[in-house]
Amino acid sequence: MSPALPTFFCLGLCVLQVIQAQRGSFPKPSLQAQPSSLVALEQSVTLRCQGPRVVDLYRIEKLKTKEYNDQDFRLIPRMKINDAGRYRCSYQNGSHWSPPSDHLELIATGIYSKPSLSAHPSSAVPLGRDVTLKCQTPKSFDQFVLYKEGDTGPYKGTKRWYGADFPITKVTAAHSGTYQCYSFSSSFPYLWSAPSNPLVLVVTATPSQVPTEAPPPTTELLEASRRPSILPTTKISTTEKSMNITVSPEGSSPPFGFSHQHYVKGNLVRICLGAMIVMFLVGLLAEHWHSRKKCQPHRIRAVQRPLPPLPLA
Ligand SMILES: *[C@@H]1O[C@H](CO)[C@@H](O)[C@H](O)[C@H]1NC(C)=O
Repeated sequence: MSPALPTFFCLGLCVLQVIQAQRGSFPKPSLQAQPSSLVALEQSVTLRCQGPRVVDLYRIEKLKTKEYNDQDFRLIPRMKINDAGRYRCSYQNGSHWSPPSDHLELIATGIYSKPSLSAHPSSAVPLGRDVTLKCQTPKSFDQFVLYKEGDTGPYKGTKRWYGADFPITKVTAAHSGTYQCYSFSSSFPYLWSAPSNPLVLVVTATPSQVPTEAPPPTTELLEASRRPSILPTTKISTTEKSMNITVSPEGSSPPFGFSHQHYVKGNLVRICLGAMIVMFLVGLLAEHWHSRKKCQPHRIRAVQRPLPPLPLA
């Protein structure tokens, strides 16, 4: 009886997936820019939409335009001002669209001349001290962002006229590295300056402070949200647990001091329940198979008849 439990569990999952697919609730695809979403003018970039392998059609759309292409990638051989903006993608299977991916912001850099980046009081900072990185430009921009090499998102600064300060309090070893900043105008949020010259921040150990513990994850400045990864559900482990309880070593003593009769009765109930579940699942599968068979002759391949574009967000 016990080895059948995981089988029921998997069968149940399969049926759920079939029902979900029929309702059109597909997993959300993800849209990425390779090698980066910051692209210098005239450089090449490829947008890739990732989702299930077997679908009828992939579509990558540029938001606020009517531009789209029905492929799971979009190669931009030479970045132009017009290519900058927000993109999203989705896919179509049967008569349903998947939910759209998160938006991808494709930014053209090198539109304006580079700002200058400097560290105050110095780019060599003793551990635990404060340092301020200043991004400055002779032109009037109202937006400044700071990137650290290897980090995903930008740091956001406090604005001043013609520049921004990026204060870092109590530096840790994790702050050492290479920084660059960009300037842009909030009226054209996807058109940025060229990057500043790289600034290397060196965190030096002070004699009184020897680092003993691992540095905490980077400061409060870090704006990029790191989404919590979804942990696998605990369902499988609970199934295993209940299995462990059910299995008694070589069928000797019944678990939990139940009398042998109770144990046999309990097993009968389980067997009946199992049989009912199997019949239910078989019924569902048969119905699904039947309805698909019925639908097939009327089905038009979606590739021949793409749905209209998704409504703009
Ligand atoms: C899309 O449809 C095909 C054919 O019906 C099917 O084999 C495939 O699993 C479907 N893909 C998804 C993601 O539902």
